[in-house]
Amino acid sequence: MISYPDRNDIIQRMYDHGQEHIFIFWEQLSDNEKKALLDDAASIDFDLLSRLYRQASESTHAVMGFEPAPYIPVPSGNEEIRRFDAAREDGIALVRKGAVAAFVVAGGQGSRLGFDGPKGLFRVGPVSGKSLFQIHAEKILSSSKKYGASIPWLIMTSQANHEDTVRYLAAHRHFGLDEKDVHIFPQGMIPSLDTGGRLILESPSAIFKNPDGHGGSLGALSESGTLAAMRERGIEIISYFQVDNPLISIIDPVFIGFHAQGGADISSKGLMKAYPDEKIGVFVRFDNGTVGVVEYSDLPEQLQNMRDASGALRFCMGSIAIHLFGVGFLEKITGGSAVSLPFHVARKKITTRTATAPAEIEGFKFEKFVFDALPLTDKNIVLETIREVEFAPVKNPSGVDSVESAHELMTRLYRRWLGERGIGIPSRLKKIEISPLLALEASDIPDSISIPDSESVYLE
Ligand code: UTP
Repeated sequence: MISYPDRNDIIQRMYDHGQEHIFIFWEQLSDNEKKALLDDAASIDFDLLSRLYRQASESTHAVMGFEPAPYIPVPSGNEEIRRFDAAREDGIALVRKGAVAAFVVAGGQGSRLGFDGPKGLFRVGPVSGKSLFQIHAEKILSSSKKYGASIPWLIMTSQANHEDTVRYLAAHRHFGLDEKDVHIFPQGMIPSLDTGGRLILESPSAIFKNPDGHGGSLGALSESGTLAAMRERGIEIISYFQVDNPLISIIDPVFIGFHAQGGADISSKGLMKAYPDEKIGVFVRFDNGTVGVVEYSDLPEQLQNMRDASGALRFCMGSIAIHLFGVGFLEKITGGSAVSLPFHVARKKITTRTATAPAEIEGFKFEKFVFDALPLTDKNIVLETIREVEFAPVKNPSGVDSVESAHELMTRLYRRWLGERGIGIPSRLKKIEISPLLALEASDIPDSISIPDSESVYLE
């Protein structure tokens, strides 16, 4: 018999909650597997799970009344351009003094993409074939050089991809970044439930759990000690982005400047929705005065289509998961009297491996969303950005939001940069990629550059 403190209490607790089926393979397990299963079982928070199951069983959830949130539009007149220039100066000063860190959330399962491994290893460079992680790392390195600053890179993984991520980045020497500046930590996990509210076995000795959503990143920053380490080294602002957007401007002085000038707790980038039922959440101001994001599935059709007097969509500002977080604000919401972000429920197919062949069952997964931190702010800012400049999500293997669409968007942006600089492009050019180490924006491209006469060009 294995020796395990509290073994009987843990087993009894499972029976008390009607979850004894998790021991169905007990007799076939080795001692280590039994210990692993008991560890899993001991970590279950039944109060939380029963609340979430009730939430999952209720067919609707109420959303408070809201109106469109205010935002800073893309500048048009001279005065606005001057405001943007002033913001840029303030942002550069903060980056130079080492007050800004980059934070990528890379703990997702990437199930739609169906790539075997952490999504950050997925190769998206249209010509170079560079991985998402390499592109992000080079942007951070390039910003460090451009502004003469040290910029730490925080990477949130999940239990499923942590080891692979750490190994990959080490094997590539963190793509030139100082290893001491790269902080990799896993996010929390939460059990899923079947439609009857029962725990699911992922294997005979493991309870099925999923990462607790990108909203889990704020707690994980704190619990891993990373937030304290950032405070220690003088970081004031954390620049948050998703791993699957190769166009992200990770260190954007204008955005940082507006955030600082406005004394914001969180600032977010938004973009004009392309069409009324585009599947992105919209920024709103709730009736209680707080700002937040309403998911596309919660925005009634009538509001999706509503237009103002000028014919523009009323709820037009879509959220693309690009945020700046004030370190003080994060400390407040994750500290002593921490406020927990709510869990959302998704009904999904869950794969179990308890029989000889994997099987799929219907179940509920629970996830936190990072934008639920917005209503906790005293002050926040939404800055409009241009889709073509900053948003090329890689979600699917083909079609919409795929590597093909990302290649096209990247090529289009780099063409645009060259156009802005008046640099000629060969007529037969089909694909072009500019290394972040050469340029982070059009103005970084050296005048002396010449474009080879080829269909496929890589500038570095
Ligand atoms: P998505 O919502 O696109 O989810 O994540 P996903 O898991 O990557 O992909 P699908 O839905 O299974 O196809 C948006 C961003 O949030 C991160 C992802 O890594 C991605 O950068 N994320 C998501 C986490 O870090 N943790 C999570 O639990 C969920």
